[in-house]
Parts: sequence; structure tokens; C-alpha cells
Amino acid sequence: MYRIAPSILSADFARLGEEVRSVIAAGADWIHFDVMDNHYVPNLTIGPAVAAAIKPHCMRADGTKVPLDVHLMVAPVDALATAFAKAGADIITFHPDASAHVDRTLQLIRSEGCQAGLVFNPATPLDVLEWVIDRVDVVLLMSVNPGFGGQSFIDSTLRKAEQARRLIDAERARSGRDIRLEVDGGIKVDNIRRVADAGADTFVAGSAIFGQPDYAQVIAAMRRELERP
Ligand code: DX5
Ligand code: ZN
Repeated sequence: MYRIAPSILSADFARLGEEVRSVIAAGADWIHFDVMDNHYVPNLTIGPAVAAAIKPHCMRADGTKVPLDVHLMVAPVDALATAFAKAGADIITFHPDASAHVDRTLQLIRSEGCQAGLVFNPATPLDVLEWVIDRVDVVLLMSVNPGFGGQSFIDSTLRKAEQARRLIDAERARSGRDIRLEVDGGIKVDNIRRVADAGADTFVAGSAIFGQPDYAQVIAAMRRELERP
């Protein structure tokens, strides 16, 4: 039930295909792909051409596919969401405050055959979720201010995760649909369990994994934390 989504923002960009393959061999469930535009956030990263280039590497040794989880920190959203869908994204999440028409953007992403998600910054309330939850496949809570890897976890995210979990469980009871609750920023071996206990089921980790020489060891330690009684 738990998913670990390494963020390749902290990978070696000069060897990205190889990094994606190694982190998948080390046990990654999703590949988290951070898109920053120097407008919505004060940093500039990678675009659809890079997504298309790593897509063939998003596969396990047995041939099963590993979802490419594209986190858009861009404004406006729609044109790039379409471009990433065409480049091979499986999941596309965006910040509702970056789209003029949140419902339309969710529909657009799903019409491209992708799963769609909303991302909430540390100071952003979950309010919009109430009105579009039936169109949402993933809720992504930022536990740092978006823009950079390697920042410290903001504790108020735990309370927001509990609130999001209640909304997601209510939607499951209503419609039978499963929505993933993903948390992004400052997740390490020593806090992942607290985040899970607050209701999260999917964990993005960049520097915690790519900052260590042995990715498998970090991912295994995270899973041990998640599984301990
Ligand atoms: C921040 C990004 C995160 C970041 C996480 O804007 O959305 O995905 O890469 O990195 P760590 O795990 O180092 O906080
Ligand atoms: Zn991210």
C-alpha cells in the first residue's frame, strides 16, 4: 500500500537515465519529476523533452512499468500539462493557485489519459478539494516551500495530512474510488513513519535517497520504518 517516489531533482543530471534505472533497481515505486519554471517557483529545472528521454528507463528488470509522476510547479499550467502527457507522464499534479480554472485543468489532464492531482503548498488550505475531489486521483501535500530539494520538513503538514485523509476516506466511502495521499519535501528515514501515521501513503524523497551512495539501503530503511509495528 505504501509507495516511495524518489525525486530525480537530486539525481546526477549528467547521468539521468542511469540514475532512474538505479533507483528503480533499488526499489522505487514511482519516479517523481519536478518541473520548475522560474515564475511560479524561483528555480528552473527540466521539461517535456527530458521526460520523454527518461520514459524508456521507467521500467523494472521484469518489464513492468514504473509510473512517471510529474509535479508541475509552473504557471500557467495547461499547455505544459498537455506537453508532459504527450511526453509520457502517467501522473500529472499541479498547484491549484497556478491554474485559472482548476476543474478545466483536471479534466484536460484526464482527457490525455493521465491521472490528475492537486498540490497544496504549506500555507494553502485544502478548500478547493471539496469541489473537485471526484476528478482527483492524487492529493500531493508540500511539506516544504516548493522550489528546492534539501529543505527541512514543515510539521504543520502532518495536521493537513490528517485532514486530507478524512476527505479521501469520505470520497472512497461515497464513490469507491481510491485517491493517493502523497507528501513531498524533507522526508527522511527518521520522519517517514510520522508522515504515514498522519495518513499519507506515498512519499517523495529526493536528497534523502540521492544524497547517499546506496539508494537501496535508504529505500529499505524507509520501508522498515513504514512496516514496524
Ligand atoms: C521541491 C520538490 C521536491 C523536492 C524534494 O519543490 O517538489 O520534490 O525535490 O526534495 P527533498 O526530498 O530533498 O526535500
Ligand atoms: Zn516534487
